[in-house]
Amino acid sequence: MNKLILVNKNNPLERKINEEIVKVPAEISTIPLTKPFYELEKETLEAFIKLRQDALKTNTILLVDDGYRTFENQREIYETIASSKGKEYADKIVAKVGESEHHTGLAIDLAVVKDGKILDDDESGEILEHIHPILYKYGFILRYPKEKEKITGYPYEPWHIRYIGKEEATIMHNKNIKTLEEYIDIKKHKNL
Ligand code: DAL
Ligand code: ZN
Repeated sequence: MNKLILVNKNNPLERKINEEIVKVPAEISTIPLTKPFYELEKETLEAFIKLRQDALKTNTILLVDDGYRTFENQREIYETIASSKGKEYADKIVAKVGESEHHTGLAIDLAVVKDGKILDDDESGEILEHIHPILYKYGFILRYPKEKEKITGYPYEPWHIRYIGKEEATIMHNKNIKTLEEYIDIKKHKNL
């Protein structure tokens, strides 16, 4: 699969992915609530392991908090949030079935451990901001950056990273292109 695949509200996943999906070792993930273990696309997991090693140098412990999601997984997440917080809120922050890039196995939700505890999303945001500048070195981008909701369709998510490969992530970093939507658009029109 093309690691630059764009999945968003306007581009739902139309075909079944044919990437190799592998199990995320329990020691580098949180405990999943609705499945026995998390899964990721193989190269994405390998890249995460390298990113994790680098983050450890600054005493930041990263865990996988979600990865590959089936359509059924996404339906469950959407419905859980819609029934507790309302459909309008769910539509704002959760992708509908088929519209989540978690379906590709290339997206990771990160968790941060501090003093032996897994931080909640509000607390981990600040720590993750120190990780964002090194993501490209391992082929990742921050997929839903601040103030890009109009382009990505979602508010800032400091925890959600997306694997696109080192080469493409480095170009985005060097050219200061913040969203995958913009990058793919620029690529179409210029020879980047
Ligand atoms: N929270 C992201 C947008 C998703 O549900 O895939
Ligand atoms: Zn996510």
